[in-house]
Amino acid sequence: MSNHPPAQKSWWKEVVVYQVYLRSFLDSNGDGIGDIPGLISKLDYLKDLGIDVIWISPMYKSPQDDNGYDISDYQDVHSQFGSMRDFDQLLIEIHARGMKLIIDLVINHTSDEHAWFVESRQSKESPKRDWYIWRDPKDNREPNNWESIFGGSAWRFDEHTKQYFMHVFSARQPDLNWENLDMREAVYKMIHWWMDKGIDGFRLDAISHMRKEPGLGDMPNPDKLPYVSSFDKHMNVPGILDYVYDLCDKTFNKRDVFTVGEANGVSSADVGQWVGDGRLNMVIQFEYLSLWSSDPQNRIDLAKLKDVFTRWQAALEHQGWNALFVENHDITRVVSKWGDTEKFWRESATAIAAMYFLMQGAPFIYQGQEIGMTNTVFNGFEDFDDVSAKNYFKKRRTENASDAVIIKELAPISRDNARTPMQWSTASQAGFTTGKPWLKVNPNYLQINVEAQDEDPDSVLNFYRRLTRLRRENPVFVYGHFELQLREHAQVLAYTRDNSTSRALVISNLTGRSASCDIGEALMSGANLVLGNMKSLEQTKAETKLELAPYETRVYLR
Ligand code: NOJ
Repeated sequence: MSNHPPAQKSWWKEVVVYQVYLRSFLDSNGDGIGDIPGLISKLDYLKDLGIDVIWISPMYKSPQDDNGYDISDYQDVHSQFGSMRDFDQLLIEIHARGMKLIIDLVINHTSDEHAWFVESRQSKESPKRDWYIWRDPKDNREPNNWESIFGGSAWRFDEHTKQYFMHVFSARQPDLNWENLDMREAVYKMIHWWMDKGIDGFRLDAISHMRKEPGLGDMPNPDKLPYVSSFDKHMNVPGILDYVYDLCDKTFNKRDVFTVGEANGVSSADVGQWVGDGRLNMVIQFEYLSLWSSDPQNRIDLAKLKDVFTRWQAALEHQGWNALFVENHDITRVVSKWGDTEKFWRESATAIAAMYFLMQGAPFIYQGQEIGMTNTVFNGFEDFDDVSAKNYFKKRRTENASDAVIIKELAPISRDNARTPMQWSTASQAGFTTGKPWLKVNPNYLQINVEAQDEDPDSVLNFYRRLTRLRRENPVFVYGHFELQLREHAQVLAYTRDNSTSRALVISNLTGRSASCDIGEALMSGANLVLGNMKSLEQTKAETKLELAPYETRVYLR
């Protein structure tokens, strides 16, 4: 067993997190939009799934330009989602079930309807002018050539004062100026207000974008593009950690709250400076997410996947913690990305589940992932909702691309794939709403839904239930040391988890072909099969040479 010093214990290292994208979870009042009472009615379902922490996407007052990531009042609830009273009730109900609640904290930017921005916009002399990033035009156009992450310029001209404001995301999400100390104090005050309410932590949106490169200089532009992708100028730029540490010192460090930062641009080499004592608890990493964008054919790059996972596991064993995830509201469904939505749908959904879930870190489950929801079908422009998809349409239409071509390009990558309503049952609109859903329900809800899987022992849902139980009952899955096995194997991802008394072995064939592998006597002796995704689990005895069926996964323990 392991000679490695065990990772230090903390409550937030032991949790399983479930991400609720509120507007797509469950609609209680028939307006077609998921809401807080809808979530409350499903808390027992989440408890039964083995969830410890619920993260809800932004429920704040907002014009909903970016589905709530554009906040116009940090201390109010958007009426479509319910009221502050509903929120308070949600917190009570979650705590009553022994679970915790974390909320999305969007402090890189606000909505253009936030009172701070409205005041900032009023005049160049406004006391809040410097709370945002305003610049004069340069040569009668934008102050620099930066492109927004959602397409087009990262600047918008404001007629009233004849200056531009910066928006790294949508034009209705002006960036806050983190150099301004008064602005920071106002944000910290707001965070304390939520902590006083008793919430248990935050997911920090776009935290690595808070600092922009001083001088706001142009990006190199050899191709003479109108705007140039500008991540280098506003993502994890030197000096950002001063903002992060100040934020932690003045807020989270004063309480026992859970923090997970969305950290685009932070690598396994520098994550140690982001997380750890007095810093964030964990980050959502993008090194691994880059695998999502790098292959439009949706083939799994197993060698790269192994490399990224191993580096992050090693980097965070004694410093902070890993946030383990394969889905969220910004990426496509994993079974469509790396699994098989036809012949091996159940097998691939469960193999991917065991593969990531039992590594070291806090596993995150994105709503619908636990029933193997897939990407959806788009037939026309009106099937898309996401602001970035709409911007993409606009741009490609000016380039004379037909809608059919644009849809073909967007369908495998659109964020809307993950945002279709949760599939609860075979009832109309998948049981999500009695009205017209804000985004079309995936037509496969008749086959893929909670009701159909609830009682089926072999379902994806029951596999996830078994996974959470296994992790809860065996500390080796929480604190055990991670070691990659079979590094060179082209089909299988395997690893061990060790502590002073146990060893776990997780083996997943991530391809649609059968795979042979030799585990070796040393790892296999005394091991018992404790979980698998094949219907007949006969071989409980440990063999060293394994023949794995397509997308077969096995977990052994001794
Ligand atoms: C990251 C969020 O996850 C995404 O949904 C949002 O569009 C951007 N940040 C901007 O807030």
